[in-house]
Amino acid sequence: MANAPRSARIDLNNATTEELEGGKLQEGGALGAAKAGRPAGGGEIGDMRALEQIMGLILLDLAAAEAYRVAIDACKTPEIKRQLEAFQGDHERHARELSDALGASLPDEPDDRGQCIRRYTELSAREERTALVAMRGNEELTNDAYASALASDLPDAVRRMVEANWQDERRHIRWITEEIRTRGWELPEVPSSLAEAA
Ligand SMILES: [Fe+2]
Ligand SMILES: [Fe+2]
Repeated sequence: MANAPRSARIDLNNATTEELEGGKLQEGGALGAAKAGRPAGGGEIGDMRALEQIMGLILLDLAAAEAYRVAIDACKTPEIKRQLEAFQGDHERHARELSDALGASLPDEPDDRGQCIRRYTELSAREERTALVAMRGNEELTNDAYASALASDLPDAVRRMVEANWQDERRHIRWITEEIRTRGWELPEVPSSLAEAA
C-alpha cells in the first residue's frame, strides 16, 4: 500500500464507492492523511460525506469555469471581461487545489450538472446583461455548495482551503450583483428559446 503507483490516482468521474471506501482516492491526499489519524469506525461516514462534498465542489468549479468562458464571449466591455476572466481563473485554481488535496486527477468531462450549467449559460448569455444575470445564478449554486460543504465534517487542511475558496465565491457574487444593480440591469428575462419551449 505504501508503494502504490501514481496510477492509483483515479478519475473522479468514474470513482466507484468501492474505490473510495478502499481508500484508493485518499492515498497521499489531505483527506487520506486525516483518515489515517482517526480510529476505525466512527469517522468513516464523515470521511465519505466529506469526499463526496469535495468531489462535488471540484466538478462544480470546473462547470463554473466553463460557464465563465461562455459568458466572457458574450461580453464586450473590457472591464467586465477582465473581471470575469479573473473569476474564471479562481474557479480553475479551486478545482486544481481541491483535487491535489484529494490526490486525484481532474476529471476530463463535466458531469450531468456541469452540462446543464453550460447549456443554461449558452442559452441565457446573449449579451452582457444576460451574461451577468446567468453568472449570478451560477454563482448562487457555487456559493450554496461551498456553504453546505463547510457544514460537513472536513479535515482541517481541507476546511481551510474550502473556507478560502468560499471567500472568493462570495466576492464573485457580490461583484456581479453590484454590477447588475449599478448598470440598472435588474430586469428579469426568460431566454427566448426557453420561453418558446415552455
Ligand atoms: Fe470555487
Ligand atoms: Fe465563483
